[in-house]
Formats: sequence, structure tokens, C-alpha cells
Amino acid sequence: MSDRFLEDHRRPLAGYDRIHFDEAEIIALRSRIDLETPLRVHWEWDYIREIESLRALYERGKTAQWNVETDIDWSVEIPETAFAMPCEQTVFGMVLRMMGAPEAMQMRAARDELAHGFSQLLHGEQAALQLTAQLVNTVPDMDAKMFAGQQVADECRHVEVFAKALARKFGEVHPIDPNIKFLLDEMLSTPNWHYKTIGMQVIFEGVAMGIITDMGTRTLNPLVRQIMRYVARDEARHAAFGVLALRDQIPKLTQQERDDAEDFTWRCLEVVANGLMTGLIDWVAPRYGLAPDVVAEAVFSNPPFWDGRYNMFNHTVLPNLRKLGIVTERTRPNYDRFRLWESSAPYGTKPLPREEFYK
Ligand SMILES: [Fe+2]
Ligand SMILES: [Fe+2]
Repeated sequence: MSDRFLEDHRRPLAGYDRIHFDEAEIIALRSRIDLETPLRVHWEWDYIREIESLRALYERGKTAQWNVETDIDWSVEIPETAFAMPCEQTVFGMVLRMMGAPEAMQMRAARDELAHGFSQLLHGEQAALQLTAQLVNTVPDMDAKMFAGQQVADECRHVEVFAKALARKFGEVHPIDPNIKFLLDEMLSTPNWHYKTIGMQVIFEGVAMGIITDMGTRTLNPLVRQIMRYVARDEARHAAFGVLALRDQIPKLTQQERDDAEDFTWRCLEVVANGLMTGLIDWVAPRYGLAPDVVAEAVFSNPPFWDGRYNMFNHTVLPNLRKLGIVTERTRPNYDRFRLWESSAPYGTKPLPREEFYK
């Protein structure tokens, strides 16, 4: 992913740059099913040496396995006639309420928005499944391979739970957002395991933790809460693995390699920060006769949007990136511009809950 690509695809909107894909690019991205990727297979002969922190995470994972069919209470419905998320905390519920649309339409749109979120999580889970299987081959150290292998099984469970929730409770899967597909293709096809791990384990898993914790605590529906809590428990281990696998590696890089990793990190974050909201708006707005740009302007000029996003990124992702030393003063202006840096926290709402949600 080059700076040039981002420059060509940025489009100003409501004091914000969005990454814009045209229709032909979206079709091309979604129909790109087979990716060529060089994969380095790394043997490890030292079976005895244990990396304590990784082994402890692996042990924790053994006792935290769960069964999608029997541990989730599938008898709970997500009815069309109730809000699963508080109306004013959804984009489309809020916009339609402001426009005076009937409550039934607000509920339908808010439910569509939830289905869109579940769908993007599902596509992301498929990518996590495939990427973690790559990591099994390419990471050094037996403990890292074993944890990655265990994570493959976790990601199967996540694909299963979101796929079943969408089939059983919503009746449809929304297509993948173009920003997300673009970025996942980048992660899956880079041969560099450091970049794979930064992109998937630290950024995607970290963002997922923010979203899942946010949705799981705000939801009014017990099934949504239960699914999010189970998934969050696993994702917390995965995000921790990203940090543990990289923390000894980053200091060994040359300054140039560290700068490149830091720039790569920001480019990923820019696309994620853009894609999460605009993908939703572009897909759902036309279903309710709304112009996406008008909805986006309403959202981007709404202070709680910036609070929510700040919290989502500062829940797991930015603390972990700072720990790894790949967010520094050098790239700070980018984070400031997106109001993601601590001191640029726009309105300072209460941070998202941490461990107590997924223990
Ligand atoms: Fe997952
Ligand atoms: Fe994961």
C-alpha cells in the first residue's frame, strides 16, 4: 500500500478526508477471490525452550474454549420491533429520528446497521482465520507457532458464531466494505510477518476489541451481549499475542525499518478509521432513500462520533502500538489530525470498560 494510493483516493468531506473507492473498484475488490502470496515456511528445531509469556497465553487459551452451538442461547431473538442498540447511539436511528421518520423505520434501520457491523466482523474473522494460518508457518519460535495454531481454532469459532447469528437472526450477510477488503488483501499478501502481525494482530484485533466491547456494553439485547462477551475474551488473547510476538523484534529493526513499520501502521489506521464509518453509510443510506454524503456530514459534525471513535482506538490499539514503539512523535501529526492522540481527545467521554466486560 503506497502513500500515492491513499493520496489518489482521499476525498474531503465535512472537514474530514475519506478514502473513496468508485463503483468499478468496489466490484473489482469484492470479486478478487484468489490472492497470490509468497509465504516463507520457517522450521523450528528447539522444542524445549519456552517463552514464558506466550506459553502462559496458550495455557489460558486451552481452558477458555467454548462451543458456539451449546454455550450461546440461540433461543433469544433479535426482534425487528425493538432497538438492539439505543436508537440515539446508532447512525441511522439517530438521523431518521432527527428527520421525524416513523419509529418502525428507525428500528429497521438501526437493525440493518447492526447486521452491517456483524457482517464486517464476519468478513474480518475469515481474514483472521486465513492470516493466522499463515502465521503458523512463518513465525519463528515454537510457542508462537502453537499460539497461532490455537488462534486458528478460535477464529473458526468466530466465523461460525457471526455466520450463524446473521443467518438465524438477520437473514442476510452484507458484502465486505471496500476499505476493509483492500486492507485485508494487503495483510494477507505481504510476505513480511512483522507487517502481518502489526496489521492483523495489533490493529485489526485491537479495533475489533474496541468495537466488540463497545457494542457488547451498549446493547439492549442479551444475545448480542452474550456473543460479544465470548468473542471479546478470545480477541483479548489475540491482541496480547501481537504485542508479545513483536516486542522483542521491533528493537532489532534498523531505524529505517522501524520508520517503515511506523508509516505502514499509520496507513493501515487511516484506512480503518475511514472505512469503518463510510462503508456502513454507503451501504445502508440508500436503503432508506438517504444520500450517503448528507448522512456522513451529519455524523462527522456530531461530537459523540469523535468521542466514540477516540475511545474505540484508544481501548486497545494505540496503547499496544505505543508499547511497541511504532507510534511516535514523528507520526503524531497524523494521529492529531484524526483526533486520536491522547491530548487531542475531543470531548473526553468515559473510556470503554476493559477487562471486566470479558472476564
Ligand atoms: Fe476473531
Ligand atoms: Fe482474533
